[in-house]
Amino acid sequence: MIKNISVIEGDGIGPEVIRQAIKVLNSIARKYGHNFHYQNVLAGSKAIEKFGNPMPEKTIDSCLKSDAVLFGCIGDPKHDHNSRGMRPEDGLLKLRKRMNLYCNIRPIVIFPILDKSPIKKEFLHEVDFIIYRELTSGIYFGKKGRCKNGEKAYDYCIYSKKEIEKIGEMAFKAALSRKRKVTLVDKANVLETSRLWREVIQKISMDYTDVNLDFLYIDNAAMQIIMNPKKFDIILTDNMFGDILSDESSVLTSSLGLLPSASIGNYKSMFEPVHGSYPQAKGKNIANPLGCILSVSMMLEYFGMHKEKNLLEEAVRNSIEEKICTPDIVNSKLSSTTEEVGNYIEKYIINQ
Ligand code: IPM
Ligand code: MN
Repeated sequence: MIKNISVIEGDGIGPEVIRQAIKVLNSIARKYGHNFHYQNVLAGSKAIEKFGNPMPEKTIDSCLKSDAVLFGCIGDPKHDHNSRGMRPEDGLLKLRKRMNLYCNIRPIVIFPILDKSPIKKEFLHEVDFIIYRELTSGIYFGKKGRCKNGEKAYDYCIYSKKEIEKIGEMAFKAALSRKRKVTLVDKANVLETSRLWREVIQKISMDYTDVNLDFLYIDNAAMQIIMNPKKFDIILTDNMFGDILSDESSVLTSSLGLLPSASIGNYKSMFEPVHGSYPQAKGKNIANPLGCILSVSMMLEYFGMHKEKNLLEEAVRNSIEEKICTPDIVNSKLSSTTEEVGNYIEKYIINQ
């Protein structure tokens, strides 16, 4: 198969983890006779510096024309208060909107051998859930601004039935091939948007009589994810709550550096690790490349390359079992570098 992939390395540790992901993709291509063509495009702080814009049209164009986008991470403290009011993060939000990536899928995968989670082992046994986070609406994209001479600020949270329906359908379909349970997380005791979510999701659930639907308020869900994480299968939630719950859930897995994600639109999709740009680790060869490599595995699945995905995941499991891991998930005296982890996985794939 031939696939055109736009690659956005981004800021901080982005280039380092993307380098390993591409190395692994190339080993898959070699083994299975695929042709992956990469187009490197700029976004985030590098694009601000070069074009004065965190998401140039040229980058959006390339992403819209390709079969998939592989994204590292963006964010750079030096632009947090820049004079033009432009943040690298604005670029990511713009790209999500322009590609209409309404459904963000974040699997919470536990590798039983890892023990860096501060949560007791007995709570982690059999944990396996996926967060379905709405990604192109809600408080992230509502009207925002200042009034009263800057003394007051506002961010509107708006959802339409259609927006909720689209991701709702995706979540129920996913539940059918899993434990058949959807938990809608909201704040329906306070927020009108949450009440609309409940109405729409309840209606969809009538077409999925084999799927069990339950509801949790966000404050309660935040507690249950720690106290009783095995009760979840699919967590369906809005943009902001999904953002928060995914970082929280990463604590169960030992490291945020392990989490992959897929952002799915009607026609286009993007694959990116959940972690941020981690500027303190930039260039030190210590960043965990597995979040990015497992995002590649979600991309292979999206391409319909199931054998390829299985082999890649087997390679990742082996690297963890052999403790070829970065210091966030193993004892730092025995740890490997970002590059060594990538090399191990590349070699494993080629030698199988
Ligand atoms: C994420 C990130 C982004 C978000 C930031 C970088 C804008 O935290 O993908 O979870 O809030 O969506
Ligand atoms: Mn986040």
